Amino acid sequence: MWCALLASGMMSSLRGAGTEGTEAFDARVRETLAGHNRSWGGMNVPEADGRALYDLVVRNNYKRALEIGTSNGYSGIWIAWALSKTGGKLITVEIDPGRHREALGYFARAGLDRYIDARLGDAHEVVPALEGPFDFVFCDADKEWYTKYLEAVLPKLTVGGIFAAHNVSEYPARGGRFGGGRGGRGGGPAGDFLEFARSLPNLETSIADIPGSAGLCVSRKTK
Ligand SMILES: C[S@@+](CC[C@H](N)C(=O)[O-])C[C@H]1O[C@@H](n2cnc3c(N)ncnc32)[C@H](O)[C@@H]1O
Repeated sequence: MWCALLASGMMSSLRGAGTEGTEAFDARVRETLAGHNRSWGGMNVPEADGRALYDLVVRNNYKRALEIGTSNGYSGIWIAWALSKTGGKLITVEIDPGRHREALGYFARAGLDRYIDARLGDAHEVVPALEGPFDFVFCDADKEWYTKYLEAVLPKLTVGGIFAAHNVSEYPARGGRFGGGRGGRGGGPAGDFLEFARSLPNLETSIADIPGSAGLCVSRKTK
């Protein structure tokens, strides 16, 4: 499923032309991302996962995206960059005012602010109230709430759309990077999320096979 979603490879789409296909535009985004270098301090996704998010959006021509857990905007920049190619838009939600403010600065620096509707608020309330529909959701906020986020978003997810959840592992918690799973069931800090997602008859769920990933679980809505 993961391979099918990415079809012809990870890197080639980064060269693709699109709505915002100019070299200068792309260079500005790359420069902003390169400044990341693990120094943004926002619990950001690794670069490998940022690239995967970009590719998922571009390859599948997704246009209506939602991110839960903006932090200071690193993954949001990858997603919005992809949406600048497909002609889409991102709603991203963050509860912390400082990180939200910082994200606004990075979005403007990257020249992507017009593709992003950044909301400050508690996603427990903001997400269920969103109208949708969405074809791409990236969940990277409070892990113990992942199941509830999926429940809230699933009716608003288009068929063929995906719900991607970060820091989800196949393996039980052992206090390592993915520590926090319960009862030897796996799922990493997101606890029972993986088991729940796999139990739903209208989702196809797998963990992306990406070197350097921090655990990207991708669920595609099939009907
Ligand atoms: C792991 S960080 C997100 C990193 C981001 N996706 C990136 O790669 O740049 C998780 C973020 O979720 C936010 N968060 C946690 N609970 C939240 C909630 N209930 N509503 C909105 N944001 C929340 C935290 O404040 C934190 O900034």
